[in-house]
Amino acid sequence: MKEEKTLLKIKNMCRYYKSGEGEVRALDNVNFEIEKGEFVAVIGASGSGKTTMLRILGLMDNPTKGEYSVQGLNVEDLPEAERTYYRLTHLGYVFQDYALMNEMSALENVYVLSLMGGKSKKESIAIAKEALNKVGLEGKENRVPDELSGGEKQRVAIARAISKKPAILFGDEPCANLDTKTSEQVLEVLKDLNKKHNQTIVMVTHELWHLKYVSRVIELKDGKIVSDKKLKK
Ligand SMILES: Nc1ncnc2c1ncn2[C@@H]1O[C@H](COP(=O)(O)OP(=O)(O)OP(=O)(O)O)[C@@H](O)[C@H]1O
Ligand SMILES: [Mg+2]
Repeated sequence: MKEEKTLLKIKNMCRYYKSGEGEVRALDNVNFEIEKGEFVAVIGASGSGKTTMLRILGLMDNPTKGEYSVQGLNVEDLPEAERTYYRLTHLGYVFQDYALMNEMSALENVYVLSLMGGKSKKESIAIAKEALNKVGLEGKENRVPDELSGGEKQRVAIARAISKKPAILFGDEPCANLDTKTSEQVLEVLKDLNKKHNQTIVMVTHELWHLKYVSRVIELKDGKIVSDKKLKK
């Protein structure tokens, strides 16, 4: 069977919010496709619709209208339970606040996801160790989050997200709470995952200097795409 190059496709995507003054068009007729192996940055001013778009792409929210398919699946046709299952098993997320369990070690924070997915403890630990190695945290597996730097905490969160080998890794400003040097380290990890493991990544950022790490930049303004550029690697 021919492998489909297009991983994700959205067509005429709209997301309107009702507010006191009327309707906010947070996403207004957005169209694009993403191929496997792309590292996409989504940029735009505050309020331009970046988080709204990422939440819809990550199946955390539903559009008001529009079509969305991922890995050939038509999202709107999926029953809620299947959509949730797909989200949990095929998509990875990294947020600003890491969302780690403070009383659990780095290793436990990562392997709990595989355990919940029904894998044995032994297999879950092996998967977690591999993911922690990929983000350069070997030797720090047994530390709890308080014993890790901000960048290391974010790397644990990335390891947790990639431990399920997601079709797409989503990040909403994953470096927003990090200083420049630490941000560089985290972005290098993401670039490495993209280059060495062909991991598809969609990352929201508002820092222009982050763009040197990515292969494509989509810019939103008032819920519309105003530019979509592939960068030379
Ligand atoms: N739950 C909501 N109810 C009403 N309006 C909302 C809601 N969430 C977002 N909006 C509005 O939708 C628009 C897009 O918001 P969104 O959070 O997607 O922006 P953003 O580009 O991520 O901004 P930032 O850079 O500040 O994170 C904004 O005008 C925002 O006020
Ligand atoms: Mg946002």
